[in-house]
Amino acid sequence: MRNSRRLGATAAYHTKVVTPFLPDDEKIPAIREALPSTAAGIYLNTGTAGPLPRETARAMAEAEAWELRTGRADINAYKDTIERRAEARAAMAAVLGTDPGHIALTHGATEGMAVATWAIDWRPGDVVVTTNLEHAGGLGPLWAIRERLGAELRIADIGTGADPAAVLGALDRAIVPGTRLVALSHVTWATGARLPIREIAELAHSRGALVAVDGAQSVGAMAVSVEDLGVDFYSVPGQKWLLGPEGTGALYCASSVLDTPRTAFAGYWNFESIDLAAVGKLWPDARRFESSNFHGPSVLGLARSAAWLSMFVGLPWVFERIARMAGEAAAMLAEVPGVEVLTPHENMAGLVTFRIAGWKSTPALKELSQRTLCIARTIPPLDAVRISVGFYNTDGELRRFRDGVALVASNTPETIPHRPQIEVLRGGVD
Ligand SMILES: Cc1ncc(COP(=O)(O)O)c(C=O)c1O
Repeated sequence: MRNSRRLGATAAYHTKVVTPFLPDDEKIPAIREALPSTAAGIYLNTGTAGPLPRETARAMAEAEAWELRTGRADINAYKDTIERRAEARAAMAAVLGTDPGHIALTHGATEGMAVATWAIDWRPGDVVVTTNLEHAGGLGPLWAIRERLGAELRIADIGTGADPAAVLGALDRAIVPGTRLVALSHVTWATGARLPIREIAELAHSRGALVAVDGAQSVGAMAVSVEDLGVDFYSVPGQKWLLGPEGTGALYCASSVLDTPRTAFAGYWNFESIDLAAVGKLWPDARRFESSNFHGPSVLGLARSAAWLSMFVGLPWVFERIARMAGEAAAMLAEVPGVEVLTPHENMAGLVTFRIAGWKSTPALKELSQRTLCIARTIPPLDAVRISVGFYNTDGELRRFRDGVALVASNTPETIPHRPQIEVLRGGVD
């Protein structure tokens, strides 16, 4: 009740109701209305940051306005903070297929991977294994324990990640005696390949290593049940496929890492109690890994976005639609002469990465952005373009994008037709 009084019990958060049961021809326009930035161009970069739901932005704005008017310091505000965190953990637990007690809130995928990596009491010469396709968010913590603690970092070459047997073979060779941690992505940011995490976890555990998974490009794009995967840590950002605010995320912590006090950072939030003599009792659940404060409205926003996806849009529908549309986008692009799709069709989620013959990725993306109004990104280490296909995209948008790619691919940077410029933009807008 306190929340509803604070935020206005009668506030309407969305203008059009989206429900999981609407037919697609009504549901897609309602969804796009609820995600205003999908009208700003062809939104193909949720792998960086997803479109924010109107409802989330509204809830955060109301929370901020309340904070401005009323302040953040009375005891009820503190109790609200605790409740909001619990709500956000519960929302993330529901998405990940686990109990809230296994969820620690974080400020992003990177922080979760760092917390997981530093949870091990590293000794010089201990081994950590990863792959050649990791994002700096997962790789950075491994670099740090190598530099700071003398761990040996082994990078398994899994190629593009296309062949699960080859991926397992490379990891089998890399996980040598002394390996304490295998840290890798579920879906690689670079090629969009989905890695066989359950089998990798079995292999790692059979050799005594823990497993930490970077779920930045999987959760919200495909069904993920962390308990079924059998991993020890699974890190998720809020701002990508879960359409939450930036600076939010969650870390799944299995029971295997809750029975010993492994946190590297400890402060007010990690403890159930701590006295002035520093006699402390960590929380028995995953809260033992939460060591810092959060921006309150963003915690509320994270829960809102996850709940909007689960309750109003429907996650099974989201996953089915992303799988179909991303698969079709990859197939359409592969048919364009001169285009090489690097994403494995059999093992993908929502990302599609491709190269266009005769083009560097940066000028190719510039042409595509200006000609189709797409929002996408390049993958510098592969010199490729990457799109993220969301459930809110339309078939028409993907066809328009494919036509843009076909135009670019049938030209070179020298022969591509001059693009007429709109006078008012050329002159700039003051
Ligand atoms: C695989 C992967 N890991 C980590 C990150 C970083 O996520 P965050 O900004 O939430 O730390 C990204 C994207 O930015 C990513 O694609």
